[in-house]
Order: sequence, then C-alpha cells, then structure tokens
Amino acid sequence: MLIFAVESSCDETAVALYRSRSGILAHKVHSQISIHSDHQGVVPELAARSHIEKLVPLTNLCLAEAEIAKDEIDAVAYTMGPGLIPCLMAGASYARAFAYGLGVPALGIHHLEGHLLSPLLADNEADNPAPNFPYVSLLVSGGHTQLYLVRDYGDYQLHGRTVDDAVGEAFDKTAVLLGLAYPGGATLEKLARQGKPNKYPLTMPMAKSGDYNFSFSGIKTQVRYLIEKLGDRIKNDTCRADIAASFQHTVVNGLVDKAVSLANELGTENLSIVGGVSANGYFRSQAQQKSVAKGIKVFFAPLEYCTDNAAMIALVADYRLRRGERDNLKIKATARCTIP
Ligand code: KG4
Ligand code: ZN
Repeated sequence: MLIFAVESSCDETAVALYRSRSGILAHKVHSQISIHSDHQGVVPELAARSHIEKLVPLTNLCLAEAEIAKDEIDAVAYTMGPGLIPCLMAGASYARAFAYGLGVPALGIHHLEGHLLSPLLADNEADNPAPNFPYVSLLVSGGHTQLYLVRDYGDYQLHGRTVDDAVGEAFDKTAVLLGLAYPGGATLEKLARQGKPNKYPLTMPMAKSGDYNFSFSGIKTQVRYLIEKLGDRIKNDTCRADIAASFQHTVVNGLVDKAVSLANELGTENLSIVGGVSANGYFRSQAQQKSVAKGIKVFFAPLEYCTDNAAMIALVADYRLRRGERDNLKIKATARCTIP
C-alpha cells in the first residue's frame, strides 16, 4: 500500500510518501520559524496561511523525489489533532480533498501517536536500531511532555504528564530570558555546550512527587530570579552559557530519572525518547548513560523525525489502514484529543 501523508498541526508543513513494508520513499518539511520568530510564539492565522501556500509545492517535490505519480497513491493520511485548529483545518481539508480527487480512502491520525511510534522509523542499521514492544516512551515536545508505556501498535498506557508547561516551552521561554531567538531550544543547547552544568544549583520541580508527573513553570521562574540576582554579570557570555547549561542539566536529568525509574518499575528493558526536544545532544547522552547503568536500552527516532514530520503520520496510518480503518467524508480537526 502506498500512503501519502500530511502534517500541519503547528508550524511545520510536512508531507511524506510511505510504502508498506519498505518504509519512507520521500518526505519534505517546511519550517515556519522565520514567520513566527518576531512574535516569540506561533501565530495560528499566519501559520495556517503558510500551510495553504506550501502544501501543493511540497507535495509536488515529494512526488518528484520519490518518482511516484499521484494515481499510484492508495490512501491519504493527515494529522487530525491535537494542534492549532486553523493549521489542522488547512492540512485536513487539503488531504481530504486530495483523497476525494483520487477516489482513495483518507484517515485522520493523532499527532502524538505519530511521535510515540517515530522510533520505528529507524533504518535498523547497527547504530540505529528500532525498539521492540513494549517500550516506555518519554514524549518531549513544544506542546507536550508525557510518559507512556507503548505495549503494541494502538496500545498505549499514559503514566505521567506535565501539570503546566511542556518541556519544549520551558526551553523556549528560558532561551528568551537569555536573549536568544525563538524557538530557542536548539540555540540554548548550543550555548550550553560552552557552560558548566553544575555552576548554578537549580531544582527540578516535582522531582520527589512520588508519581511520574512533571512541572516546568517553576524552573523558568528560578532562572528569571537567578538572572535578576546576577545583574550585569548576565552580559557576560560565560555567565549566560553557565545558566543555559545548568537549566538544561536540571531539566534533562529530571526527565530521564523519572523515565528510567518507570521502565524499572514496569520491568521494561526498552526506553524511547521522542519529540522535538529529543534532538538535544545532551539529553541523548544523559539518557544513554543513565539507562545503561540500569540495564535499559534507549532508543531515539532518527534526528529528521524528532521534530514534526509527516513520515510518522504515514507510519501510523499504515497499520491502521491495514486493520481496515477508514474515515467517512468528514474533515476531522480537533484541538485537544486523546489517542484512540
Ligand atoms: O515536536 P516538535 O517539533 O513540535 C511540537 O509538537 O511541539 O517540538 C518543538 C520543540 C520546540 O520547543 C523546540 O525549541 C524544541 O522542540 N527543540 C529543542 C531542540 N530542538 C528542538 N529543545 C532542546 N534542544 C534541542 N536541540
Ligand atoms: Zn509534535
């Protein structure tokens, strides 16, 4: 089965072509960072307009790269939520019309299920294996921070979540405090490489909560107070790098500790870390070290599939379509929803 997939839940316009059992034939992502950076956040109206502009050219690029003609496509998948409604509507109506025009089925897919299964997109080369079920999944993105047990395709058990901000949001807001451009996650990581992770003792909120939930709004406030206390010293590059490194160290270890301890409690030997923040190199190395020490294997999606993409949406659609799932003609778009 040849699947064409569309992802447009936030500020990335993405399409992919996926063949059952072979995997991804081609995928394209257009990031809207330059559109939203002046606003220090995603402006839904601007994002939706850009999705509408980019969907057709990206589709054509993807088809050309895969050397696929439209009429070879057997089904169309799209992200139905969670996300920003104008953005979801742009992708969903495009995908639904695309499927209608071809006379093939369409299927709305849950964005987070895409992230949860994204490590299965690994090519299974020696240095890039995909995990076997079951695995604990730590989902860390700009909109979500959750801990799941992934038992099988379509079988997910939620064990913990953030009670306030998402970790990506904490990275982005801390980056702004340090004078970095939005979205600052990757830039903060770069700055942190020059800093000392133990220079400023920050506290991970809820580290001892006795459950698997997280909180990030307090750590952002700790950084704000620290910056106020440091006064003019903050103008110094080394000082800013030390703050970035200390923040990153505290947050990453707080997340990894709970994920490893959940895997231990559940007796699961596989842990995966997914979503935009899992592109962070320090996160990857800390997770690797702490997991190995507890006899747990850690897996990541290939870097290009950490941030939002349509490949993961196609992967989910593949198993759901093979199970016989089909949508009717309704265009599905939901801001908040749980994985079906
Ligand atoms: O998964 P994603 O692309 O979109 C959502 O579904 O939210 O995640 C985007 C988030 C942003 O907050 C961005 O700053 C963060 O992932 N991010 C990073 C890094 N790369 C992206 N955070 C820390 N370190 C990185 N290298
Ligand atoms: Zn995402």
